[in-house]
Amino acid sequence: MATALTPDQEIEELRDQLRHHEHLYYVEDAPELTDAQYDALMNRLKRLEEKHPELVTADSPSQRVGGKPKEGFVKMPHSRPMLSLDNAYNEEELRAWDQRVRDALPSTEAVRYVCELKLDGLSLALQYGPGSGLGSDKGGAAHLGRGLTRGDGSIGEDVTSNVRTIRSVPLSIPAAKLKAAGLPQSFEVRGEVVLPHAAFVKMNEEREAAGQAPAANPRNAAAGTIRTLEPNIVAQRRLDFYAYFLLKDGEFLLPQQSTALEALKTSGFRVNNYAKALKSIDDVVKFIADAEPLRDSLGYEIDGVVIKVDATAQQRRLGFTGKAPRWAIAYKFAARAGITKLEGVLFQVGRTGKVTPVAALTPVLIGGTTVSRATLHNADEIARLGVRIGDFVQVERGGDVIPKIVEVVEDKTHPRGTKEIVFPKNCPVCASELQRIEGEVDWRCVNNSCPARVREELLHWSARGVMNIEGLGDAMVAQLLGQSAELGGDVVTEEGAPVVVRGPLIHTIGDLYRLKREDLLGLERVGEKTADALLEEIKRSKKAGLARVLLGLGIRFVGERTAQLLAEHFGSMDELMTAASQDAGKAGEALEAVNEVGPKVAQAIAEFFAVEKNKDLVKDLAGLGLEMTAEKRVTTSTLEGLTFVLTGTLPNLTRESAKEKIESAGGRVSGSVSKKTSYVVAGEEAGSKLDKANSLGVKVLDEAGLLELLG
Ligand code: IVH
Repeated sequence: MATALTPDQEIEELRDQLRHHEHLYYVEDAPELTDAQYDALMNRLKRLEEKHPELVTADSPSQRVGGKPKEGFVKMPHSRPMLSLDNAYNEEELRAWDQRVRDALPSTEAVRYVCELKLDGLSLALQYGPGSGLGSDKGGAAHLGRGLTRGDGSIGEDVTSNVRTIRSVPLSIPAAKLKAAGLPQSFEVRGEVVLPHAAFVKMNEEREAAGQAPAANPRNAAAGTIRTLEPNIVAQRRLDFYAYFLLKDGEFLLPQQSTALEALKTSGFRVNNYAKALKSIDDVVKFIADAEPLRDSLGYEIDGVVIKVDATAQQRRLGFTGKAPRWAIAYKFAARAGITKLEGVLFQVGRTGKVTPVAALTPVLIGGTTVSRATLHNADEIARLGVRIGDFVQVERGGDVIPKIVEVVEDKTHPRGTKEIVFPKNCPVCASELQRIEGEVDWRCVNNSCPARVREELLHWSARGVMNIEGLGDAMVAQLLGQSAELGGDVVTEEGAPVVVRGPLIHTIGDLYRLKREDLLGLERVGEKTADALLEEIKRSKKAGLARVLLGLGIRFVGERTAQLLAEHFGSMDELMTAASQDAGKAGEALEAVNEVGPKVAQAIAEFFAVEKNKDLVKDLAGLGLEMTAEKRVTTSTLEGLTFVLTGTLPNLTRESAKEKIESAGGRVSGSVSKKTSYVVAGEEAGSKLDKANSLGVKVLDEAGLLELLG
């Protein structure tokens, strides 16, 4: 019979299992457990840790998302500068570099190169060492101590709390693994943090749903994410980290780059699979030719190949120029770009009324995709480019973003019979006068009933993650509104057959719920089955609940999470509307009482419900039987009105996480002890604050006491 495990043994066992499966899932891309099985293990660990808070360690898989950095990110010097690379843009430049390398080394020495994909993200330096004081040191394990951004190359920013949320970054590496990889207990890993395409697309969908501007490309999105002050948001974004350097005290740890990559892999880091050691520059040229077509299928952005001299001893002799090593070079792929003609400009009206100029291009093949549309962003951008209809333009396609026009190509042979792009004064769809809010670049259609806006509202309402109405996509919405599929464009279906445009069947979201079978049967390509299925989907959406309705209404800045928090806080649409409809000060106060709702969001909500049409819509939807309640979840404010002072080092909680726990339970944390202080929480080496508490008769708690108070 197996002997029962003690809690600490079971906790360790669960952690080891979770680490193993995290590695399989996030580093090897070869999971063995289903998500549910993984979650079950994690829940078991969390329950045990809750029961035994004294056993919580910083490197536990349950502790990836921790406290927020208190006052922004602290600047920290690098162990050795994080340099950039010189670039080569063609084979000739690459061969010239190879020649320089060989000229600088004795002719008797062979030179081996390591080729790595050049990931388009941003570089990070991760410092590992013995226990950080929070976790157990467990016989020589290495713990992630600090993660720094590149910064200016000499000084980076400490983004450890965010780096910890990246699942492919090990929080600790057991002694046995270090030994297998030939690593000491203290070392530094450098590599690239990237946002995979799927995560990028998801992030932008969420931003758009919340009325925020989408990130231009995965690199910017990754850069913004790693500098976010909310680790729980970073955790949701699914950043990934690829290791490519291994250092110790600012020097390369191993005699070859190729063996360093192996050691990194063995110790549990994700290393790019395509890296390869090669004997000659001819092989390098071939590697590059093979790598370029991978761009469209990798699932993350690369913008070239990095070539490094393999032997560290040779690297040392080659040294550096001002800002870059002589022993490495970046071969940059040409941007996926093409030249084509700007045939015309469409002006698209979005859900919020924003008018976006979209370039209609002569179709051109760029990186395997036919591009016939590109964004021109706004009126300022058109002016900046100086582009005219009929011009030949350079179009670039980044990672999964809408192609953009980068410049006008001067073509002397092209007759300059070009036409100025006139930004409309009126909405191209409903003709109402466009407005531009002072200080903003965008022109907006402010007519709430503009058919283009209604179309976008309906599409948003039916979208996945919102009401999730299957069968209510572009084409169907267009038919229901009696519009062509692309407003301002030609009236064609997917097959190219013209659509018979009828009068609108619906004008508002509410009308969706009044649709009848006969209405739908009159539409193009809608048979009985399609009609019934759509009606069923629409009916089903009535039960989606308050959070989804709030999200579906498209209130500015109200994304999925905010909608959920609002729903849980107010419990019903009525209560929310009552709160939002008070005079400005009171409404602000009532709305900002919701977790994570600040003045900007509160104002947007109040403004939304001040519009008669919006109120009518909500009333209509309620009358039609849409569920507009949610289970109220009272945020525990057990410490309401209490003030705490933290002093000394607590055995398990960091100062930030203690503060966060107190604040999220409604308490306040102050820096100095006075008669008004409710409790002083004292840890090891508590100093004068503890003395003062004692002399004033303020109650003193230890960590366990605090946790008990928090329930
Ligand atoms: S080596 C001194 N290896 O490219 C050596 N960099 O243009 C510099 N990058 O700042 C870094 N993939 O952010 C190296 N496999 C790779 C890389 C890589 C992407 C980025 C890195 C660096 C930039 C230099």
